[in-house]
This record gives sequence, structure tokens and C-alpha cells, in this order.
Amino acid sequence: MRRAVFPGSFDPLTNGHLDIIKRSAPLFDEMIVAVLNNPDKSPMFTAEERCGMIREVLPSVDTSSCKMRVESFSGLTAEFARKSEATAIVRGIRAVSDYEYELRMALMNRRLEPAIETVFLMAGEEYSYVSSTLMKQVFELGGRVNGLIPELVEAKMRAKQNR
Ligand code: PNS
Repeated sequence: MRRAVFPGSFDPLTNGHLDIIKRSAPLFDEMIVAVLNNPDKSPMFTAEERCGMIREVLPSVDTSSCKMRVESFSGLTAEFARKSEATAIVRGIRAVSDYEYELRMALMNRRLEPAIETVFLMAGEEYSYVSSTLMKQVFELGGRVNGLIPELVEAKMRAKQNR
């Protein structure tokens, strides 16, 4: 059983995240999309809302025969992965600028849980500039984000804005 954890803030889910899920899923039997519950960061969406959106969007993604689960977690990713009996942590790298941060996290996670490997996938080039932070910023300033985030996520962002 090859089980992986794909951790992140997912505030909100982008098509870049979905691309990583789609391309990493065939490598594993099971994957847990692990949504960090970090209220200190004052996210746009609560962890429950983020999990809900991912659960709604995932059926539209071809995840091969990989069984998908979505869970929220707090605390350390490495500990969550160990408790989930995962052997891999999946992360996407977009540009060189991601590398240093990802390297530090991977090394720290390996120190914490030596049996768990971090597996990196290069982001699809069409999403290499897409981040949740940028999507929120552009959306809030009235720019177009269609094609970069799922339509359902865009609708939820619009609903939040109108509130
Ligand atoms: O989507 P993000 O914000 O790039 O994801 C970052 C995340 C959630 C993977 C990272 O912040 C994380 O692992 N947080 C949990 C706390 C933790 O384990 N910190 C030490 C990492 S070495």
C-alpha cells in the first residue's frame, strides 16, 4: 500500500494544485489531501470550507486508481503523515524561488520522520506562476482568474466577497 499525503494551505485550491494531484496520483494507491488548519494566518476560507471545496472538485479530476481522501490537520505535517501511515509527502515546485523553502521543509520533515520521503513534482508550466496568494490578490482587485482556479472555487470567492 503506497499512501501519500499532499499537504498545503489550499486557501484556495488552484488548478496548479489539481495538476499536481492528477500527475502524482498514479504513483500511489491512496492520497490524502491534507489541509492545514492554521487560524493564525486568517485564511479567506476556513479549513472546513477548503476541505469541502476540494471534495467537490476532486471527482472531476482523473486520479487514476488512486483512492483520494481530504482531511484537515493542525500541527506538524510530518506527524500527520506518520499517523496517517503515509510513506510519502508530495509537494509541487514551480520555480527556483520555491526550491529553498521546499528544501528546508523536506530536510526538516526527513529529520522528524526519516521513513517518510518528500516527492517533488515540477508544476505544469501553464501554472508555474499560479499561487493561492496571487489568485486572492488578483481576484480581490477585480482581475480575471478564470482558467487558473476551478469555477466552483471562483464562485465561492465571489460569494465571500459579496458578503
Ligand atoms: O500551501 P503551502 O502554504 O505552501 O503549504 C505549506 C505547508 C502547510 C505544507 C507547511 O506550512 C507545513 O507543513 N505546515 C505544518 C507545520 C509544519 O509541519 N511545519 C514544519 C515544516 S518543516
